[in-house]
Amino acid sequence: MMDEIASHIMDIVANSLTARAKNISVVIEKCVDGPLLILDIKDDGVGMDNEMAMKVQDPFFSTKTGRKVGLGIPLLKGTAETTGGAFSLASEPGRGTQIRATFDAGHPDLPPLGNLKDTILVLAVGNPEVNFLFRYKNSVKEFILDTAEVKDLLGGVPINHPEVISFLSKYLDEHL
Ligand SMILES: Nc1ncnc2c1ncn2[C@@H]1O[C@H](COP(=O)(O)OP(=O)(O)OP(=O)(O)O)[C@@H](O)[C@H]1O
Ligand SMILES: [Mg+2]
Repeated sequence: MMDEIASHIMDIVANSLTARAKNISVVIEKCVDGPLLILDIKDDGVGMDNEMAMKVQDPFFSTKTGRKVGLGIPLLKGTAETTGGAFSLASEPGRGTQIRATFDAGHPDLPPLGNLKDTILVLAVGNPEVNFLFRYKNSVKEFILDTAEVKDLLGGVPINHPEVISFLSKYLDEHL
């Protein structure tokens, strides 16, 4: 099992990148009035048809058909469902994919959040051509990083420039 929410985010976003998404949003929200943690990842990649969207949620799909399909999606679904939450996947060919997992934040088997800061930093500077919208919200704060906005402000300086990376790293340390 993947034992951190951050690893799940990495894996689901890796799928979006493979699907040639240009815009990816990642929302992690701890509800104020209840024990609900929501993870929502949306992309504008190649998408999947209905049949594929059903199959990729089935961890036994690959063994049944002999096709190589991975485990990133079934693992997240499993974690959500075993921690009293839910999982949904909506996708449309040519339009994109949205994955939403909820967790009971009070469940003893809920994995820790993990290193969200490094996950965001690696994704943002490791994929300079992709626009990421990261939003993290809990009962005390809301953090938003829109890399399209950052790139606008940088006016031509690449987002993976060493000085930009260290600025973003500090920014994440202070605000996330
Ligand atoms: N965002 C997405 N857009 C389009 N297709 C997707 C997306 N996410 C998943 N898929 C399809 O679903 C398949 C299964 O994804 P999943 O993450 O479960 O396994 P994988 O990426 O194939 O392997 P791994 O175990 O390395 O994650 C992918 O191979 C891809 O074909
Ligand atoms: Mg995957």
